[in-house]
Amino acid sequence: MKEENQIEINNVTHAYQTDDGPLPVLKNLNISVPINSFVAVVGPSGCGKSTLTRLIAGLMMPDEGEVRLHGEVITSPKSSVGMAFQNPVLLEWRSILKNVLLPLEIVSNNLSQKQKVDRAMSLLSLVGLEGFEDKRPSELSGGMRQRASLCRALVHRPEVLILDEPFGALDAFTREDLWQIMHELRKEEAFTTLMITHDLRESVFLADQVVVMSGRPANSQFVLDVTLGNERTLEDLYTEKSVKMLAKLRHEIQIAQGRSTKTEENA
Ligand SMILES: Nc1ncnc2c1ncn2[C@@H]1O[C@H](COP(=O)(O)OP(=O)(O)O)[C@@H](O)[C@H]1O
Ligand SMILES: [Mg+2]
Repeated sequence: MKEENQIEINNVTHAYQTDDGPLPVLKNLNISVPINSFVAVVGPSGCGKSTLTRLIAGLMMPDEGEVRLHGEVITSPKSSVGMAFQNPVLLEWRSILKNVLLPLEIVSNNLSQKQKVDRAMSLLSLVGLEGFEDKRPSELSGGMRQRASLCRALVHRPEVLILDEPFGALDAFTREDLWQIMHELRKEEAFTTLMITHDLRESVFLADQVVVMSGRPANSQFVLDVTLGNERTLEDLYTEKSVKMLAKLRHEIQIAQGRSTKTEENA
């Protein structure tokens, strides 16, 4: 157990039992996410990225190895984890405010109703949704719904935020807006993030570290330290440094997909 890590995936091996026999998905996977850092996980389609998020969320137990949150082995879902997915699962019969308030109704806390509303409203205002709190989900654009979904994931101040391709369904410009909003949220709130994405630019723009998972059964094939400062603008993605990091990641993905070999390049 290392104190400084908020999330630790230690030697995790997992297979699904299917009609055709066991399907090995993860094999000796190791990932460490330091407190308050942001780790992005990329990898070939079907390599086990969503499986990883379910293990961290405590929705499943690995066959072998362990997942630790703040040093504690996870055996069931924890309220210290907030989650958001590609399709924000907002309840249509509730207003945006009431959707964001939902975790505070479920997770035990000693906040008054006013404190809960103030907390939800401050997050909504941080992501630019002030004035939309009384709307229904269907009255909002996809990008706005995803902003609301981020507010809901963070409203109960979870230590850990798990994002599974949260911006994958959005158009390119809306996605870039959401990247900026993620940076704003991180400036204002303390949480540790593990984000699954298939967008390499997104991983470099948002993360402190990018983990490339291998093909199935997946382990951690490569880890990139993103050497950009905390203040990032979209222009930073076009600098020589970023272009090199993106090329390296793309190369590693090709290896993971079995389309390239390790020996080709080591830059
Ligand atoms: N509940 C399940 N039962 C059987 N196979 C599953 C189940 N969930 C996922 N799989 C399979 O496990 C592999 C990894 O799935 P997943 O973690 O969703 O991959 P990713 O998110 O990286 O695309 C895929 O081949 C998928 O079809
Ligand atoms: Mg997935």
